[in-house]
Amino acid sequence: MPKNFMTLQRHIYEGEKRHPEATGELSSLLSDLSLAAKVISLEVNKAGLVDILGFTGDKNVHGEKVKKLDVFAHEIMIKALDHGGHFCVMASEEEEDIIHIPENHEIGKYVLLFDPLDGSSNIDVNISIGTIFSIYRRVTPDGEPGTLEDCLQPGMNQVAAGYIVYGSSTILVYTTGEGVHGFTLDPAFGEFLLSHENIKVPAKARIYSLNEGNYKYWLPGLKKYIKYIQDADNRGRDPYSSRYIGSMVADIHRNLIYGGIFIYPADKRNPSGKLRLMYECNPMAFIVEQAGGRAIDGKRRILEIQPESLHQRVPIYIGSPEAVDTVEKFLRIEDEISSLS
Ligand code: AHG
Ligand code: MN
Ligand code: MN
Repeated sequence: MPKNFMTLQRHIYEGEKRHPEATGELSSLLSDLSLAAKVISLEVNKAGLVDILGFTGDKNVHGEKVKKLDVFAHEIMIKALDHGGHFCVMASEEEEDIIHIPENHEIGKYVLLFDPLDGSSNIDVNISIGTIFSIYRRVTPDGEPGTLEDCLQPGMNQVAAGYIVYGSSTILVYTTGEGVHGFTLDPAFGEFLLSHENIKVPAKARIYSLNEGNYKYWLPGLKKYIKYIQDADNRGRDPYSSRYIGSMVADIHRNLIYGGIFIYPADKRNPSGKLRLMYECNPMAFIVEQAGGRAIDGKRRILEIQPESLHQRVPIYIGSPEAVDTVEKFLRIEDEISSLS
């Protein structure tokens, strides 16, 4: 019998009660979202048992191979969330255009952007994967179908964001701008229970996470920074540990708890990096900032970037505040040197 009966629903509801103007709508849509998370979690856990492994044969809008579980998660998110009357429009990493609310459904005042399955290259090998979501209030008039303009808002306009890690257990982490809270799914009775209240990222990092296979494409500032954190210095600082899962959700979740920096940089091959502003970087930046961390694209705060397109990519340096401050200095110095030459 659990000692703690603070379910996700109760936590969200109690948070809303502190705001007399709240309508309860955010509670209701986050609870729809948690239902989608439970269904995806169940399917992820069965992945080795049913015919869900392998490719569908299609490519997604980024030209990458789509796996069946990506499609499944994408469809579950839409099915669980398009009929509650909360959203006016949605967008998914797996679909090129915005997703309209079906005609016979009520149109709401919120906008949902999501990465249904993050870390898809890890699906077939039983390694942690996740789902990421980001919620905005619409900017176009109420009652009408939402538009691209509702989706293309800077990250600082988010009203809620979260992720679900499907790991050794399933954990949902969310923020509505009042701290970051984590809930673990109890598989016996299918409820998310509060397990990580008010998560704060350690100020100093112990871990760095990036794909070092891309070393030869890195710019000089990043090469110097990674060398710097690998070197123990005579002030008694140990070198950082390297940990890289290849699922952004799982890498950032670990770094949030232990202290760390996650980097998907701009490099010579991909000046805009790889990760998507709207589905990955903005929600993660909102969560990490709420936990006391920082998230930048090298120069700018991620949350202040004005998006230009739905699937736009940005470089990202995110995590413990002191680590992000340091990498920012290395990148700036390098910029200054190159502007002199
Ligand atoms: P997705 O599965 O949604 O396409 O995201 C994969 C992303 C991210 O989760 C991860 O951090 C990164 O791709 C890994 O990329 P590399 O394989 O280039 O390291
Ligand atoms: Mn992803
Ligand atoms: Mn994905």
